[in-house]
Amino acid sequence: MNIIITGGAGFIGSHVVRRFVNNYPQYHIINLDKLTYAGNLANLSDIEDQVNYEFVKGDITDAAFINELFERVKPDAVIHLAAESHVDRSISNPLDFVLTNVVGTVNLLNAARKYWEGDSSKRFYHVSTDEVYGALGESGMFTEETKYDPHSPYSASKASSDHFVRAYHDTYGLNTVISNCSNNYGSHHFPEKLIPLAIHNIKNNKPVPVYGKGENVRDWLWVEDHARAIDVIFHQAKAGDTYNIGGHNEWKNIDLIRLLCNIMDRKLGRPAGESAKLITFVKDRAGHDLRYAIDSTKLQKDLGWVPSLQFEEGLEKTVDWYLANEEWLNNVTSGAYQEYYNKQYS
Ligand code: NAD
Ligand code: TYD
Repeated sequence: MNIIITGGAGFIGSHVVRRFVNNYPQYHIINLDKLTYAGNLANLSDIEDQVNYEFVKGDITDAAFINELFERVKPDAVIHLAAESHVDRSISNPLDFVLTNVVGTVNLLNAARKYWEGDSSKRFYHVSTDEVYGALGESGMFTEETKYDPHSPYSASKASSDHFVRAYHDTYGLNTVISNCSNNYGSHHFPEKLIPLAIHNIKNNKPVPVYGKGENVRDWLWVEDHARAIDVIFHQAKAGDTYNIGGHNEWKNIDLIRLLCNIMDRKLGRPAGESAKLITFVKDRAGHDLRYAIDSTKLQKDLGWVPSLQFEEGLEKTVDWYLANEEWLNNVTSGAYQEYYNKQYS
């Protein structure tokens, strides 16, 4: 089987590519990635020489390029993760999100439709987010039946791409699958997102920006558990189906940051309470969704997937990875990122 995985040089994509390359030597994995600021081939240095792995640099907004790629590699499946993924960037530059997340997805769907010619054995797997469901109040959880209600330009673009994927299933009979996952954490996470940004700043004795009062709640899942869920769903879901993926692991941002500060104090040999002094409450994000929580009962019941790691253990592992991979962190926080970082946080 030839599988194109888009966005494989990014955070989650690199974990998915690694899993598929290592676990399925019989598959040929083509990692298609534009290498934006968020894409980094160093994320895959451990598997880049494997015979069943190939990297292709390219942009999913370029329909001609996508068609040529399909023509050449004759994929049996696409697992689509390439996206602009950061909510704050979507607020300052929504059009980039429309282009990559919506137009890019439709380009891939068009190529799949054209080259697969109704062959329902070929699968298009779209990786999406729980943010399409909008925000929860103090109680309740998102299920697969929850109505879409996106608020940020990022979630609006992902919701739109989900709708296009379903439309191609319903209209053209394309064998599609969608999963909507909660917030991921783990190694190789770009340090503009809350957890890696906080680790980076605590390590460098810089302020840790907490938006608003830190009361917003996110449901955190270890990235390797997400990659395993994608593997299971890719192989077992029915055509046209949707699965929610989540860790049943809700944390208020401020509680999470305090936990992280305690771990960092211990790891860096600082006096207890030292890192927490860096916590700085800053202006809230515009349209900041209060709470996300995923009900993943369907995935657990239908396909037997359960998260493998407790959050505290996962967070320790994540901190250890960042402390052991200083060069990776220095590389990704230089250049274009540094400019953005200075604008946002200085
Ligand atoms: P990321 O920003 O770390 O990586 C995105 C990757 O896509 C990068 O390698 C980038 O170079 C590539 N890319 C961007 N634009 C492209 C284009 N036009 N053409 C080709 N490649 C392009 O993102 P991530 O956090 O790994 O998220 C991956 C997917 O999972 C996204 O679709 C995101 O919506 C979804 N998701 C993320 C989370 C999360 O917590 N991070 C949760 C649920 C779902
Ligand atoms: P983020 O990691 O950007 O993920 P998402 O917005 O997709 O959930 O943010 C996670 C939460 O942390 C979110 O409620 C916004 C908040 N946040 C901060 O308080 N400070 C920060 O510097 C960042 C990046 C996020």
